[in-house]
Amino acid sequence: MAVAERYSSDLHETRSAALLGLALGVAFTICFATGLLSHLVQHPPGWFTWPSRPAGLYRVTQGLHVATGLASIPLLVAKLWVVAPAFWTTPPVRNVTHAVERAMLFPLVGGSAFLLVSGTFNTFQFYPWDFFFTRAHYGVAWITVGALVVHIAAKAALTRATVTGRLPDPDAEAQPVGRELVGRAEPTERRRFLGGVAAVSGVVTLATVGQTLRPLRAVSVLAPRDPAVGPQGLPVNKTARAARVTPELTGDDYRLRVTGRVGRPLELTLAELAALPQRTATLPIACVEGWSASGTWRGVPLRDLLELADAAPDAEVQLESLQTGGLYRRSIVSATHAADRDTLLALTLGGEPLHLDHGYPLRLIGPNRPGVMQTKWVTEVRVL
Ligand code: HEM
Repeated sequence: MAVAERYSSDLHETRSAALLGLALGVAFTICFATGLLSHLVQHPPGWFTWPSRPAGLYRVTQGLHVATGLASIPLLVAKLWVVAPAFWTTPPVRNVTHAVERAMLFPLVGGSAFLLVSGTFNTFQFYPWDFFFTRAHYGVAWITVGALVVHIAAKAALTRATVTGRLPDPDAEAQPVGRELVGRAEPTERRRFLGGVAAVSGVVTLATVGQTLRPLRAVSVLAPRDPAVGPQGLPVNKTARAARVTPELTGDDYRLRVTGRVGRPLELTLAELAALPQRTATLPIACVEGWSASGTWRGVPLRDLLELADAAPDAEVQLESLQTGGLYRRSIVSATHAADRDTLLALTLGGEPLHLDHGYPLRLIGPNRPGVMQTKWVTEVRVL
């Protein structure tokens, strides 16, 4: 069967490709910017400072990252279906520029598919692969965005002509550079198709965004997480068992040590910590996987503890967890975060001692930090 016959729909056309491209461009830009931000927050270079306020900023940026990624899936599927005949264009390569542009379609299509599939699997904590998700997702994001920039440049004239209503008829002799598709849908057919794709994207969003927007919990039937389900009414990503934190480690022998560049090293029992002045803060756990949930925490402000240990007021600290393995057994608290009055070493959640899975006996909870940096089972505060 000839290629042209295989793609008989009029919707294999430039206008639909460009409009879906624009929607994907917006979604991928938000996704890339928020993903990059999350990377910088977790691995801050010297020039980067992440504020501790507003307290829920990371919750918004990471919620957006996952929501735009999920909403992009129907857009990408629709876009690839619309442009499918362009893959079989003849001759396959016309000149060097065309060859570069076409070669870039491999990282563009492959990279986009990889990012959306691996990101979605990650939100379900499903890892049917051997590589380290975060590093691969981050590296492929750069490759995909590079290829997307080339693609946008190659299709800029066509997209501009579409948006300004100056796209010539596919049969006309003079065509903007880069046009491969010859379909010509009726406006009503196109509206129905693009409206349908937008509706599917909207449904995907509504069905998942309740994992971070609590009022939408009830309709978010596909959300990987319910923000109200977990010990003490809050979800848990890493349980004490998974982190190999046993009740023996958190028993009577438990001590919090404050070490490093301090005038007065401290070693405190749980009772001594509980006897220090306490503060209450309502703060979210905002997970890198896009869910978030607020809790009311009470504990010792980190800055009070640093003052007690005679540390510099602008000290940066490293927290050490009782967990024996795993990437997140340590975290850095920047000077900005350490100085925030709501950055707590929390002893209670919702008025009760922390559940072991929430980090009993002591965990960090601070405003505007990714969940993986809210270290649980804290046993040492090392002033750097
Ligand atoms: C993840 C994002 C995107 C993917 C995976 C993607 C993929 C593709 C593919 C595979 C083609 C067919 C190859 C070709 O015509 O040479 C194509 C065509 C096109 N794309 Fe994209 N694209 C994306 C984003 C965009 C963006 C952001 C724009 C516009 C700003 C855009 C505008 C177009 C246009 C105008 C065409 C040409 C249709 C024609 O040949 O008549 N695309 N896209």
